[in-house]
Amino acid sequence: MQQAKRIKNIPPYLFAEIDKKIALKKAEGIDVISLGIGDPVEPTPQHIIDTLCKQANNPENHRYPSYFGMPEFRKAIVNFCKKRFGLILDSDKEVLPLIGSKEGIAHVFLAFVDPGDIVLVPDPGYPVYNVGTIIAGGKPHYMPLLFENNFLPDLTKIEDEIAKRAKIMFIGYPNNPTSAIASIEFFKEVVFFAKKHDILVCHDNAYSEIAFDGYVPPSFLEVPGAKDVGIEFQSLSKTYNMTGWRIGFVVGNEAAIEALGRIKTNVDSGIFNAIQHAGIAALEGHQDCVKEMCDVYARRRAMVAKALNKMGLEFMIPKATIYVWAKVPSGHTSASFAAYILEKAGVVVSPGNAYGPSGEGYIRITLSVKDDRLREALKRIENSL
Ligand code: MLT
Repeated sequence: MQQAKRIKNIPPYLFAEIDKKIALKKAEGIDVISLGIGDPVEPTPQHIIDTLCKQANNPENHRYPSYFGMPEFRKAIVNFCKKRFGLILDSDKEVLPLIGSKEGIAHVFLAFVDPGDIVLVPDPGYPVYNVGTIIAGGKPHYMPLLFENNFLPDLTKIEDEIAKRAKIMFIGYPNNPTSAIASIEFFKEVVFFAKKHDILVCHDNAYSEIAFDGYVPPSFLEVPGAKDVGIEFQSLSKTYNMTGWRIGFVVGNEAAIEALGRIKTNVDSGIFNAIQHAGIAALEGHQDCVKEMCDVYARRRAMVAKALNKMGLEFMIPKATIYVWAKVPSGHTSASFAAYILEKAGVVVSPGNAYGPSGEGYIRITLSVKDDRLREALKRIENSL
């Protein structure tokens, strides 16, 4: 059996590796607390579950779903984007439901990247931007996200030669893993850059609804002209505690949506209709559940901030997302500190360098664990130092 050359360049998925480490430690009898993956521990709101249960009993929903998603779900997406961001979208041409935003993100490269093409990838960034590029035969070109730039890429540092060969720029704000936020002014710069160099902008907005202190994250598509050059990925995972359901969507540029849809319809057969009905219930139902989760995360953010301050670790208080991006103590690398915490405290955090070389020197702590477990994890880390 001979594997393709491409597989040699594909690292194992970060969180699959973390899961393996957790399983090994648990097998040793250690009570591991994972602050690794961002995976809400609270249940999906009841009205969404009830809709799924009802729709799962309807045999009409047991057949193949529509390849482009149910029209009612696409309309619910359009209404959500209008209400939330003021966007005007055509539900037939500018909207595509996804089997989770990760699926759409991984597939978009196949529609736009030829072997040897460059993709501008944030560093650190969600690992799928990098790996999706490699799977398509493209070459990731890192855009460093540095503390001194508020974790925004410096577009003036991208040489013309690179920009000319780039097909896609990926960005995502509120940002995973750094939790940084971006202004409309920054998005305007991105639109200008993309128009100048004829690049598709893919904005990952998976954390737009999880924000604190009155901050309301915008959509990239709010910028005039953004739809000419860009698409935006959205996920129901973090907003409605639906990571396991695999449901998201992408909106924006019609030609880009069509191209991604052509890849997808040849590869997958869409989302179970009952889950799409549940998606409608999520987007159209009351949004108090989202507000409640933001309050929960804000409370945990305060717990983490207090503990990190006590430990003397540097970090920025996040205005959004379910992550805290913190510097490791001097003398440690990201990997050595993550390994140390696992060994001495039985606590898992994500090492920053796993998100790209500029993530070196950081760890990511997730807020998606119950308060008592988070408290215990923070105490254990503190005691281990
Ligand atoms: C994360 O922790 O970054 C995400 O939840 C992981 C994922 O979406 O695969």
